[in-house]
Amino acid sequence: MFLHEKTFPVIDLGDYVLREKNADDVEDFFNYYSNPQVNKFILCDIPQNLEDARRELYYWRNIFYQNDGIYFAIARKDNNQLIGSIGLTSNNFYHKRIELSYDLAKEYWRQGITSRAIYAVAKHAFEEMNINRIEAFTAVDNLPSKNLLLKCGFEHEGCLRKHRYHRGNYVDVDIFSLLASD
Ligand SMILES: CC(C)(COP(=O)(O)OP(=O)(O)OC[C@H]1O[C@@H](n2cnc3c(N)ncnc32)[C@H](O)[C@@H]1OP(=O)(O)O)[C@@H](O)C(=O)NCCC(=O)NCCS
Repeated sequence: MFLHEKTFPVIDLGDYVLREKNADDVEDFFNYYSNPQVNKFILCDIPQNLEDARRELYYWRNIFYQNDGIYFAIARKDNNQLIGSIGLTSNNFYHKRIELSYDLAKEYWRQGITSRAIYAVAKHAFEEMNINRIEAFTAVDNLPSKNLLLKCGFEHEGCLRKHRYHRGNYVDVDIFSLLASD
């Protein structure tokens, strides 16, 4: 299949939609993602300006075209504004295993939006992508994210010692999983 033949799916969540990211989203992405409360536990580099944000946004968008997974914008349906991200990366085709991550603009927290997005993305992974196991990693202190995963039916499997390098330190990370058979 030619790369341009792939069609990025859209998933309806009611008031919100999971859709492809595009150039119009860069500013909204930068604005919510550069909030220290949002990026505190995000275990990778944070964009420092709009150009960094544009590069980061396209990196995640291209995961779909590189067959490494799929990374969605979480957007409002009424005005199409990007308010968060959720996606699957590091697709291991042989073991049918993939990694989940997500983040949401602070003003939308605690409204059940990420839970709904996780259910929808997990359904997509199991039904459309032939995935058997979804993995998620959280900083050990990221209580909101750990509670969220447990609420969505993920199982806590343990703690991976010094698994990630984060802002000058090696940090312990909790690992969770959801299986197609769960
Ligand atoms: C983690 C995050 C995505 C949660 O998104 P959200 O849309 O607010 O989550 P939901 O509203 O779907 O919450 C579902 C459950 O998660 C747990 N939870 C969410 N926020 C929580 C908080 N601040 N404290 C404790 N538990 C929390 C609760 O169990 C909640 O269920 P409840 O509201 O019925 O008690 C959001 O806090 C965020 O963007 N954090 C910063 C980025 C981040 O850490 N990403 C994950 C990296 S591993």
